[in-house]
Parts: sequence; C-alpha cells; structure tokens
Amino acid sequence: MKTPLLSVKDLNIYFHSDNVQRPIHAIRDLSFSIMEGEMLGVVGESGSGKSITNLALMGLLGESAKISAMECKFNNKNLLSLTQSQWQSVRGGEIAMIFQDPMTALNPFLTVEFQLVEVILAHNSDKLNKRQAIDKALDLLNQVGISSPKERLKSYPFELSGGMAQRVMIAMAISTNPKLLIADEPTTALDVTIQKQILTLIKELQIKKNMAVILVTHDLGVVSEFSERTQVMYAGEIIESGSTHQIINHPRHPYTLGLLSSRPGAIARNAKTLLPSIGGIVPAFHQRPNGCQFNPRCQFVKADCQNHQIEFIEGSRCLYPLSVALERSST
Ligand SMILES: Nc1ncnc2c1ncn2[C@@H]1O[C@H](COP(=O)(O)OP(=O)(O)O)[C@@H](O)[C@H]1O
Ligand code: SF4
Ligand SMILES: [Mg+2]
Repeated sequence: MKTPLLSVKDLNIYFHSDNVQRPIHAIRDLSFSIMEGEMLGVVGESGSGKSITNLALMGLLGESAKISAMECKFNNKNLLSLTQSQWQSVRGGEIAMIFQDPMTALNPFLTVEFQLVEVILAHNSDKLNKRQAIDKALDLLNQVGISSPKERLKSYPFELSGGMAQRVMIAMAISTNPKLLIADEPTTALDVTIQKQILTLIKELQIKKNMAVILVTHDLGVVSEFSERTQVMYAGEIIESGSTHQIINHPRHPYTLGLLSSRPGAIARNAKTLLPSIGGIVPAFHQRPNGCQFNPRCQFVKADCQNHQIEFIEGSRCLYPLSVALERSST
C-alpha cells in the first residue's frame, strides 16, 4: 500500500487563555490522510476549526496553542518536532498555503515583481540570480493565466482585481513546487464567476504538477465539482468523511444532510426522510454540549446522544447514521 503524503492521527489542539481556567479543547481527535497528487475537500460552517487545523499543519499557531497527535507525518517528517530551520524549508516550500483574501495577504506598498521575486529567492533551491528570478516570476504569472504578465509584474496590488490577486498568490504558492497546497476558502472573497475560474486553475495545477491539495470551503457544491474525497468538520471534529460522491448522494451524518439540504434543488429520494434546515450555530469551543457536538441542532437526537463523546466509526461520528439517497431536482 502506498504511504500517504500527509498522515494525521488523533490531532488535538488546546488553547490557553488568561480569561479561562481550563485550556480550550478546540480540535478533537482529528485523523485523516492525503495521498500524493490528491485533492481532499474539507467542508464545514464557519467556526468548525478548519483554519486552525491548517495553521497547525503549517506550524503557524501561536504560543497559546498546545498541539498533540499520535502522528502528524508529512513526507516522512514529523511536523510536530521540526526545528525552526526545518520549518523554513517545509513552510512555503514543501507545503504552501493560500488564503481567503488575497488583497490582505499581499503587501500594498510593493509591486507584484518584488513580492514574487522575494518568495522565489527565499526558497532558492535552483540558485537563481535576481534576473533569473524575474524570468521565473514571469513564467509563473503565465502558468496561472495572467494576461500581459510583463505589465502585471510592475503592478501594485491595488491595481489588480480580486481574481488576479488570487492568481498572484497561487503563483507565489507554486513557485517552490510544493507537494501540498492548502487552499483555505480561496474563493470566498471573490465574485461567483471568478470563483469557478480560480478553482479550475487550482484543479489544473493539481493534476499538472501532481500536487496534493487540501481545498477548504463551506460550500459542498465546490467539493462536488473538484475533489475526489471530502471530509466534513463540525465543532473541531471530523463528523463524516468518504468519497465526495458518497457524501453528496448518501450522507450518513445529520449535519451533512443539513448542509446538503440547504443547497438549492436538493430532494430526498427516501420519502420518509425530512430534509431539515439546520437551525442554530456551531457551538463555541468553550461552550461545548455534552455528548455529540451536533445534538442541540439535530432533529434525530435521542437520549443517549447526549451521554458521551461519539466515536468516529465507518465514516461518520453519529450513533444513528442515516441511510438517505439524495438527488437534485431539475427545477
Ligand atoms: N488562539 C485562539 N484561542 C482561542 N480560540 C481560538 C483561537 N484561535 C481560534 N480560536 C477559535 O476557533 C474558532 C474558529 O476556528 P477556525 O479554524 O477559524 O474555524 P473555520 O476556519 O472553520 O471557520 C474561532 O471561533 C475562535 O473562537
Ligand atoms: S449522534 Fe445523535 S445527535 Fe448526534 S448527529 Fe447522530 S443522531 Fe444526531
Ligand atoms: Mg477559516
């Protein structure tokens, strides 16, 4: 069997705060893996812990975070025991990340060329000189589909559209040929028409460069189109994972069903199944309910759902997994 590129087992993240006595248990027993060249979709409402998990994988959580795991292995390296200098080659080198808002990620006072060349020279395994780095910057802008790349190199961020700025961020991210790209809601800040173009670009680069991608989104429509496998997060836990096809068409966890039913055109083939819309909000990490984290919002809740933490078994974290067939209505 092939070894995964990234393998995470029982990842737990706690935050210490002066205001609360006990540390906040934010991420609980997260286990997942991703193979080389694979795209994994991660879905969940805002506040589910998607970004915290990504920041932990990038070694970017601050001092207040305590991270533990049975395993957190990337390309044969234990991410939890890297030294600062090892992080420098992993972060932004072997693992790259793009964020929701490209405009805030770019420095408004520096040209695209300056910022791109800076990144290229920071991880300069090919020992390029400045001139060669500028050529590479030009090539990268071509690769991410920016028209008139020569002129764009001289632009400042405010002269770029949101979509173009995200393309520049992607150019920076792929400049080191990362083995893993973490795209954390990369299109949430963009217009709908641009969203699709950016996601298509990421998909093309994934395939062309055999680069693994963790695609984080709150939209199941996005994963249904772009990722082979999907995991659904809720309140710092993975509550369902499997092939995207299975999750979209045969969800087992009531939360996944709720996410799906809030999308236009969703109907249940199983007539007995109601399609609930999810009321309420994701609980804050310091105000977790007992038992199943979803129980206060779950329309299928039973007494024992509130008794103890629910284990992840056969692809879902639910005592009473559903058997639902969904299909899209044409209207
Ligand atoms: N340093 C921290 N200390 C305590 N809680 C934190 C810290 N950082 C993030 N959080 C909590 O994590 C929650 C959201 O996690 P996040 O990973 O950003 O969710 P998502 O990306 O799924 O929207 C926030 O609501 C916040 O309460
Ligand atoms: S364990 Fe119970 S409360 Fe939680 S999702 Fe399943 S049925 Fe609902
Ligand atoms: Mg987030």
